[in-house]
Amino acid sequence: MPTIGYDYRAVTINGKRTLLLSGAIHYPRSTPGMWRSLMERSKEAGLNAIETYVFWNLHERRRGVYDFSDRLDIRRFLDIAHELGLYVILRIGPYICAETNYGGLPAWLRDVPGIQMRTDNEPFLREMEGWVRLFCDYVRPYFAPNGGPIILAQIENEYGNIAWRYGEEGERYLKRIAEMAESLQVGVPWVMCKGSAPGIIETINAFYAHPLLDEYFARYPNKPALWTEHWPGWYDMWGYPHNRRTPENIAYAAARFFAAGGTGMNYYMWHGGTNFDRDGSFLQTTSYDYDAPLDEFGLPTTKMYHLAHLHQILQDYAPVLVESERAQPEQLPENALAYAYQRDGRSLVFLCNDDTQKAVSVSYGGRRYQLPPQSVTIIGDGQPLMNTAQVEPRYVVERRFEACDPKLTPFQWWVEPLPNGEPTPLHPPVLSDKPVEQLQFTHDETDYCWYVAKLMVLPHQEGSGVLELHGVADVVHLFLDGQFVATTPAPLPENRNLDDPESFTQRFELTLSAGEHTLAILCCALGLVKGDWMLGERNMVDERKGFWGKLLWRGEPLEAPWRIEAGLKGEHYRVFAEGSALVRWESSLEVARGKPLCWWKTTFERPKSSTPLVLDLTGMTKGTAWLNGRCIGRYWLVPGTGKPEEWLLQAVYQEGEGLPTQRYYHLPADWLHEQNVLVLFEEVGGDPTQVRLCMRV
Ligand code: GAL
Repeated sequence: MPTIGYDYRAVTINGKRTLLLSGAIHYPRSTPGMWRSLMERSKEAGLNAIETYVFWNLHERRRGVYDFSDRLDIRRFLDIAHELGLYVILRIGPYICAETNYGGLPAWLRDVPGIQMRTDNEPFLREMEGWVRLFCDYVRPYFAPNGGPIILAQIENEYGNIAWRYGEEGERYLKRIAEMAESLQVGVPWVMCKGSAPGIIETINAFYAHPLLDEYFARYPNKPALWTEHWPGWYDMWGYPHNRRTPENIAYAAARFFAAGGTGMNYYMWHGGTNFDRDGSFLQTTSYDYDAPLDEFGLPTTKMYHLAHLHQILQDYAPVLVESERAQPEQLPENALAYAYQRDGRSLVFLCNDDTQKAVSVSYGGRRYQLPPQSVTIIGDGQPLMNTAQVEPRYVVERRFEACDPKLTPFQWWVEPLPNGEPTPLHPPVLSDKPVEQLQFTHDETDYCWYVAKLMVLPHQEGSGVLELHGVADVVHLFLDGQFVATTPAPLPENRNLDDPESFTQRFELTLSAGEHTLAILCCALGLVKGDWMLGERNMVDERKGFWGKLLWRGEPLEAPWRIEAGLKGEHYRVFAEGSALVRWESSLEVARGKPLCWWKTTFERPKSSTPLVLDLTGMTKGTAWLNGRCIGRYWLVPGTGKPEEWLLQAVYQEGEGLPTQRYYHLPADWLHEQNVLVLFEEVGGDPTQVRLCMRV
């Protein structure tokens, strides 16, 4: 059986140094029917490994109830990798960040008394260890020494980013989890990214890893440089433009890393896929395309072909690279650098121009080379093989969405009643003097929570003014005396601060007459945070949704008892699935067009073509969508107007400013039937006659 180890140059498999070219494919972000072709394409593109995180939050949505079925069938995922001869890097976490709800921790952890996440806290360590042990036993046959594909395992994730918050307590935590990991005896090396503990390989996450290597080797002279997250794009958020990164820039960063002595790299993400259901963390779009080399639907892009070219060269020359010493850079004119590797009569040379603006012309080995800005030219056995800044025309793929048959049948509708205090079997209404944070009632099993109060407006308070909600999250819709009057302005900031009241304050301009009014606030969560920093100086356990603060009208508090109702009636009845017959669907579309809180239902036949299918939600505003009873995700056509964080611009550029953040929603082939039912819950108001089925071509 294979033995996995490492030395100062590379990971070793059966004692042989191995160059690792890996791509992240998260099993829950696609469907089992997609897995084989995703991995086959990865292999064709020259990858020899697949990386995935493990999603505790999805496997154990309810405490003690484990789900390894369907898109959570990780054993099947590992089997396919194994059959295709791909290695697997398994990042167990169980805290994983990953833009997944609560960073991969199950929401019920919040209800464990005394818990603090990711520090030396007994309840957290107990729960975490319980899961990690159970999970490792579940996949034990899949570790390489037992004949399986897993060659590396990761514990925790980027603890270095938050370690300073926890001081010695954090250090104790790291030590304890490292010991715990070792005690699991999985037989493969453990890694930790950005942060480490004795006995564990620390790995790099970055857009560019080569500037970090000198420091890395100074700290870890006996460890190989592994890059667990090379981001070939970036995630998208509601209210922000689409993030992209050029193929040339990724190829430059990758080649530059291997030139400077790296021997293992994983693209995060190689295939981004979809945040189905309510799986995404706060503010994440349903698409997790990531501008990755395989697009959301698993189709190859220009990026994939360009990188495949690089991978093929790296694999051809892998022995030359890993069996020789890390090359020292040779200074060429105008700050260009050459890294030369030689072994058994073969050679591989990287000519690097790190200047982002200036092209350079250099002579090397009797030839002249033009080095474009930020580029690497690779020379194998004296022959130029690739210039990372030149994408060959044959690699260019143009894709678009095209309207397709069949057509959707005319939509029917049913309006979600405003909350009326009627008890529902799941969530009896709660009466309270003050508004109370919603997760205490919803336990994150729904996005929705109603807050209803009767407000008395005195004569001197009447007229137009600003209604302020202090302590509110995320998106809220206000209904005054049964009428929709206002909604949260977008975009929302990604990182907020629970200790800064402004961060969780929202303001709405309204006109109120004197007298009694009923205010109903529908709070809509947009996913739980993925890390402490998203709440300021707090622990993740402090995450809040709904309304927990004060209501001010023209600067004066309006006190009233509140009735809190978790979830929607339509959710309780499951009108998007088997409960569809419990309500009366109406056909007179004109009456409901633009109505808030409207459930819409249509049907369509299975398309003849097997091309990936999407739903173009033009005409709709914000809500949730289901296909044949399965939640395809949240939708929101909010225009992308937000500004990116400065640091992203070192590698990423924005596209589609002012356009709907996400217009097309993936309908996975695995979820289609001969006759299909599509249900939308529209919160604000939409025109479904514009909604269309499209193909990705
Ligand atoms: C990293 C993190 C990943 C993912 C990524 C951004 O810092 O480790 O889990 O969140 O950022 O996509």
